[in-house]
Amino acid sequence: MFPNEGRLRLAFDSAPMGMAIVGLDYRLLRVNKALCEALAYDEKELLASTLVDITHPDDKRRDTDLADKLIRGEIPSYRLEKRFFNKKGSLVWLDLTAVVIRNELGEPQFALAMVEDITERRRANEALRTSEERYRSFVVNSSEAIWRFETERPIDTKLPVDEQIALFYKYGYLAECNDAMALMYGHERADDIVGARFGDLALAANPANVHVLRDFISNGYRLQQVEISEPDPQRPRKCFSTSLIGIVVNGFLLRVWGTQRDETQRKTAEIELEHSHQQLRSLAAYLQNLRERERTDIAREMHDVLGQSLTALKIDLAWIKKSLPDSSNKAVLAGMKNRLNDATRLLNETIAAVKTLSTELRPGVLDKFGLVAAVEWQCQEFGRRTGIKSECRLPDAELNISPERSTATFRILQEALANVGRHSMAKNVSIELKADDQELSLIVRDDGRGITTDEALAPDSLGLLGMRERAQMVGGNFTVYGKPMEGTTIEARIPVV
Ligand SMILES: Nc1ncnc2c1ncn2[C@@H]1O[C@H](COP(=O)(O)OP(=O)(O)O)[C@@H](O)[C@H]1O
Ligand SMILES: [Mg+2]
Repeated sequence: MFPNEGRLRLAFDSAPMGMAIVGLDYRLLRVNKALCEALAYDEKELLASTLVDITHPDDKRRDTDLADKLIRGEIPSYRLEKRFFNKKGSLVWLDLTAVVIRNELGEPQFALAMVEDITERRRANEALRTSEERYRSFVVNSSEAIWRFETERPIDTKLPVDEQIALFYKYGYLAECNDAMALMYGHERADDIVGARFGDLALAANPANVHVLRDFISNGYRLQQVEISEPDPQRPRKCFSTSLIGIVVNGFLLRVWGTQRDETQRKTAEIELEHSHQQLRSLAAYLQNLRERERTDIAREMHDVLGQSLTALKIDLAWIKKSLPDSSNKAVLAGMKNRLNDATRLLNETIAAVKTLSTELRPGVLDKFGLVAAVEWQCQEFGRRTGIKSECRLPDAELNISPERSTATFRILQEALANVGRHSMAKNVSIELKADDQELSLIVRDDGRGITTDEALAPDSLGLLGMRERAQMVGGNFTVYGKPMEGTTIEARIPVV
């Protein structure tokens, strides 16, 4: 029986692919070493069984159907990828080719089966498919746009930048993208825009975005999260954050991968937030100014009207006292004098109180003599009232600054000193006011317990917030800094013009 003898037999036995001679009853008549290895049986075991025995049940029918056709001469051969169980019971995939050998009369004698073990290839393909699927589902389900642009002709990266850009507009086309990208470009599905020329996409066509390509090229064909915006005037302006990676091989740009996030909502929210901050700030400024004006008015009224009438009253009382007649009734007279003395004392106290009140509301010195004088006065007042040794360093001459700026600086000083008095436990405080032609700065430094970072940052530190707000309202800034047991320093810097 073929291939019984000699070279043919040698070729059969040592062929790298599995071979078997199969009887018309599917019994294995001869098997080679490679087949034994593929199926992990030894020769004897295989010869004792049929190919059908070790075929996976699901593949049996297909195989025998084809084999029957082959034997009947309806087909010259067949090829089939089918599953077998090896001796250990594991699945083995074999790529099987079968031909039938006939005698001179054309009667089928036996079949020759040649098999190649494709288990590994199958497994690798399977793994590839799974990873491909995983990658697909990432891309498809991503809320970020993901795309790949190919260039119909590779672009020479040695060309001048603008030439490269022109070529990319001409030859770049969208080879692949996900639905998220289509949505960002106003389409429904990826299929609607795949194939589009780079230059035909609205975002790319916007001249305002060309700089992105220029940066991309000069940055070595890479860009991380640059902002681009949509030009379409019909629709609300959209903003995207884009990252790009170009694939350059042998100095030629072949394709560009990109991802893009829609930042419109975040941007809009940011702008709105900034807007409402701005509004709040203006409102605060308006209220502060209003309060300051009212205080000034009340202080003036108190000083002018109340103060003057009280002084007039005092003069009248003094006159009455002097002009009291020498009454014969000494007791009555003494009583009247006492009453008059009491009334005069009360009046003096009231005059002093009105003066203090009106000064506290709005120190006249600020309006009459200016900021430097007002700071000096406030410093002395503070020392006198609290017993904390207060020294101040001031510019030689009055400053030429707007009333808003002097008021802001002065109120910051008052609040800072109030804090020193209330919280610092300091023995000394130094107040420094200095100015050049750019800005003035007010520094209040105490040697008390030192404000902590938590206190300085606490949201309910409204005094500090007020100082910062005052400084910012006139275009300046405010800092506060404390060191435990060494004291607290606040500084307000305010532009002069
Ligand atoms: N000079 C200071 N020395 C020590 N602690 C201070 C000083 N100034 C402020 N602080 C701390 O910071 C907190 C916040 O100050 P502030 O905003 O003015 O609020 P308030 O004076 O109403 O408590 C104070 O309660 C205090 O604990
Ligand atoms: Mg305070």
